[in-house]
Amino acid sequence: MKQKIVSGMRPTGKLHLGHYLGVIDNWVKLQNDYDCYFFIADWHALTTKYDKTENMIDDVRNVAMDWLASGIDPQKSTIYVQSLVPETAELHIYLSMITPQNWVERDPTLKDMAKILKSKEGIGTQVNYGLMGYPVLMTADILTFNAEFVPVGIDQVAHVELTRDIARRFNHIYKTEFFNEPQPKLNNCSLICGLDGNKMGKSFNNDIKISDTEEVTAKKVMTAITDRSRLRKDDLGHPDECEVAFKYWKIFGTEDEIATVREECEKGLRGCAQCKRELGAKINARFAEIREKRAYYEAHPEIVDKIIRDGSEKARIEAQKVLKEVRSIIKMY
Ligand code: TRP
Repeated sequence: MKQKIVSGMRPTGKLHLGHYLGVIDNWVKLQNDYDCYFFIADWHALTTKYDKTENMIDDVRNVAMDWLASGIDPQKSTIYVQSLVPETAELHIYLSMITPQNWVERDPTLKDMAKILKSKEGIGTQVNYGLMGYPVLMTADILTFNAEFVPVGIDQVAHVELTRDIARRFNHIYKTEFFNEPQPKLNNCSLICGLDGNKMGKSFNNDIKISDTEEVTAKKVMTAITDRSRLRKDDLGHPDECEVAFKYWKIFGTEDEIATVREECEKGLRGCAQCKRELGAKINARFAEIREKRAYYEAHPEIVDKIIRDGSEKARIEAQKVLKEVRSIIKMY
């Protein structure tokens, strides 16, 4: 039997190339070798955006469409929406009973989130009970399928450590070996920076979306920062000091193309504008097929909804097996 993988993403709407290269592309590869459960974490979104839910359904759909277009295959992987698998909420209750308060309080991302919330205006500025319990909910996501591995970025490793701690504590308290201690599976892909050289992010206005048109992509790439010391197109360039464009070449170009770009830039034979025009075309070629698939799903939302519903049903059946065992271990009525 294949080992199980669980991973999730918050429904932030249309995804960008950072999501694609940093997460989704990795999932696409994993789905051949593992029994994968990929979910859209709408409860997690509520921990900070409980007062801004008007776009939730669209956001969930957009994430699903980006996944499907990128090659997450519902025949191979189970794609589901977190809130359509209520077994996770039940498991969360049991786990919350055995998780010491100081285990959640020591969570480093919680402190960051509290800071971000405080800097905002309006009602969503305090740390609510649900947000405090968010690492326990994440534990429940993972243990709902008793997964072996959790593919995550480095920022989430502390959470998977907590999951291991809680799984071990459950096993100890109830004198069982039922839960695996799931391991983080770090993806070793190169992080893509935003067009301004900072971390790519929706709210920083420096991203390229998977779903952007070719025109929009080309235009955005023209704004990418290059070698700031270069003023005219025949000035000798310094690719290693090029803040964004050459970094993108290293991600999207072939070995030969990267070598050519480097040489022409260093010799002053390639201006930054021409370089970015070619780069935009290169990125567009890479996403052409994905965008075509996405357009298909956009035109057929009923297909997307059916995939989500079917996946969630399938996830529930597996989750129910785990919960049945958990109830019996705890000796619930
Ligand atoms: N916490 C993750 C994030 O913010 C999303 C997430 C929620 C998750 N539950 C998970 C990831 C379970 C992996 C496994 O990116």
